[in-house]
This record gives sequence, C-alpha cells and structure tokens, in this order.
Amino acid sequence: MTKCKLNSRNLLAIETSCDETAAAVLRDGRQLMSNVVASQVHIHKEYWGVVPELASRHHLEDIVRIVEKALLDAKTDRSAIDAIAVTQGPGLVGSLVVGLSFAKAMAMACDIPLTGVNHLHAHLSSVFLCEDVPSFPFLGLVVSGGHTNLYAVNSFLSADLLGQTRDDAAGEAFDKVAKMLGLEYPGGPIISELAEGGDPCAFSYPRAKLPQTPLDFSFSGLKTAVLTSVRKLAGQGPLPVEDICASFQEAVVDVLVEKTLFAAKNYDIRSIAVTGGVATNSRLRARMAEETRRLGCKAYFPYPELCTDNAAMVALAGYHQIKAGILLKKDADVYSRLPFPDI
Ligand code: KG4
Ligand code: ZN
Repeated sequence: MTKCKLNSRNLLAIETSCDETAAAVLRDGRQLMSNVVASQVHIHKEYWGVVPELASRHHLEDIVRIVEKALLDAKTDRSAIDAIAVTQGPGLVGSLVVGLSFAKAMAMACDIPLTGVNHLHAHLSSVFLCEDVPSFPFLGLVVSGGHTNLYAVNSFLSADLLGQTRDDAAGEAFDKVAKMLGLEYPGGPIISELAEGGDPCAFSYPRAKLPQTPLDFSFSGLKTAVLTSVRKLAGQGPLPVEDICASFQEAVVDVLVEKTLFAAKNYDIRSIAVTGGVATNSRLRARMAEETRRLGCKAYFPYPELCTDNAAMVALAGYHQIKAGILLKKDADVYSRLPFPDI
C-alpha cells in the first residue's frame, strides 16, 4: 500500500535528461525546500557539445550525492518523502535511464507513488515557481538547447503544441555560432555578453518566416549565413566578433518575438511565458517584455536559475500529475523524443 496516494506533502524530483544531474524537494506544491544542480558543462566543453555516454556515466556517479544533498538542504530525509517525480523524456536515453531507474528503486523501497514528467512540460511549469505568475490559458515558449516549441498551455496537465523548430533549436544555434567564432561552449552566455558591445545592424542575417507554417521556426539558414560571413571576412583583419554576435542574436530574438506575438494575436491569448535556457538571454527578455506590453499582453520569465535544466520545475509538474493520479507503471520506460503532437 502506498503511504500517500493522491497527495504529496514532500515531493522529491529528479532530472537527468541531458547534462545536469538535479534533485529538488517541493513542499505542498508551493514551497521549494531545496534545488540542487550538478552541471557537467566542464566535461562536455572540450567536445563542443554533450557526449551521451559521458553524460550517463556522470549521472551515475553523481545521482546519489545530489539526491542526498537535496534531502539535506530541505532538512528532511527519505522517510519524510511522500512521492517522487522524475523526468521520463524527451532527452538522452542513457541519461534518462539513470534517473528513472533510481526513482523507481527509491519509490519501491519507500513504498511511495512515482510519476514520470515530460521535460518540456516541466520547463513550462517553471514559471509558476516565481512570484508573478500567468493565468491559464497562456502561450508557453520553450527555448533551449534541444527545443524551440510554442504551446498554448491550458492547465498544468494540458498544453497544445502550436509550432516547433524544423531544424536547429535556438540554443543549438547559439552553441554552433559560438563554435564558428572560436568561443566557448555553451555559446548562449558568451554570445549574449559579447553582443552587448556590438552593433545588431552590422550584418543583415536572415529571419526565416515559413509562411506555410508561420508558427514553426528554422535557424539553420541563419547559422549558414553567419558561417558565410565568417568565411568571407577571414584574412581581412580581426573578425568583428561583437558585431557578428549582436547581429546573430538580434535575428534569433526577432524571430522568437515575432512568432510568439503572431500566435498571441491569432489565439487571442494575453499572457506569454518564456522558458528554457535561452530565456536567460537579456536581449530576448527585454524585447519580449517591451513588445508584449505594446500589444496589451504580458510576458513572464522564470528566474534565470529556473530557466536552465533543474529539478524544481520537474517537482511542480510532477506535483500536479500526482494530484491527478497520473502514476508510472512498474515497467515504464524512458522516451527520447515525443510523438507529434507531444504532451
Ligand atoms: O534549458 P537548457 O539548460 O538545456 C536544454 O534543455 O537544452 O538550455 C541550454 C541552452 C544552451 O544551448 C545554451 O547555449 C542556451 O541554453 N543559453 C543561452 C543563454 N544561456 C544559456 N542562449 C542564449 N542566451 C543566453 N544567455
Ligand atoms: Zn531543458
């Protein structure tokens, strides 16, 4: 018999979908008692991207320590945990398996319910861990290293996918452009820092409109245009790195803002939440806030530490699933990608 079926006073969440091993404790679906993240960025930096096998091995090394730290920081222990939420997908299979196996074992040992969370659903939920929160329905943009997805979010348990990237994700484009410019991985933070000293109009890079599916995104043409300009400028003195960064960033921001506002008008939705690692970008935050205001809408952003991968967002999404009785079966598997439409 489970200790606590449809309630979860103390919920432990685990996230291992990519290169962050994370655990968090959420009390009563409101109070974040702990939020621990071990990033593997220093390991994957030298390969210019996440190496799946290295990622899973490091999750295996770190997971016990990270969960123990989350319990300790929350001033609690295993016996006080009433439910577990774990990221089930999408993500790297080997990495997800580490989190799910650990969560299954702990749920069985403690005889408590376990729910499997969609990582993108978790990003959408992250905005509710802040003070100023949107009301349903709202538009949810998830912009990360693996996804650029736009949703109409109806409730904690339901979101309709309106558009997604056809090729590179926005964060992936930042990472690839950084590599072209000889900058470090991940590319987002360094590009946004350098962009501050550059001219966003120095290069006129393309903005893919996709008239047939206007809510879809494409960043591969932009990436190629940056590569072409870098090649053209090679051997003509120092590369205007700051101008390239500012012009590239402006093109990404233009597309994200324009398509999100187009959806807001089309679906008559006034609240917009921007989540995922790219949502830490200060230019994106400023432009989205300003242009949504002009349209009579309001933009919401999670705190920066809740934009990048973390388990707090998994905890909140998992809390609502457990309340609704959505539990994992004993033979549940992970999933690397979502069927269309997802969620
Ligand atoms: O959400 P996240 O931590 O992991 C995934 O689920 O992918 O996002 C990581 C991505 C990376 O591609 C990184 O370059 C990007 O977020 N990123 C940024 C910024 N900070 C991180 N992109 C643009 N500007 C930033 N300030
Ligand atoms: Zn993510």
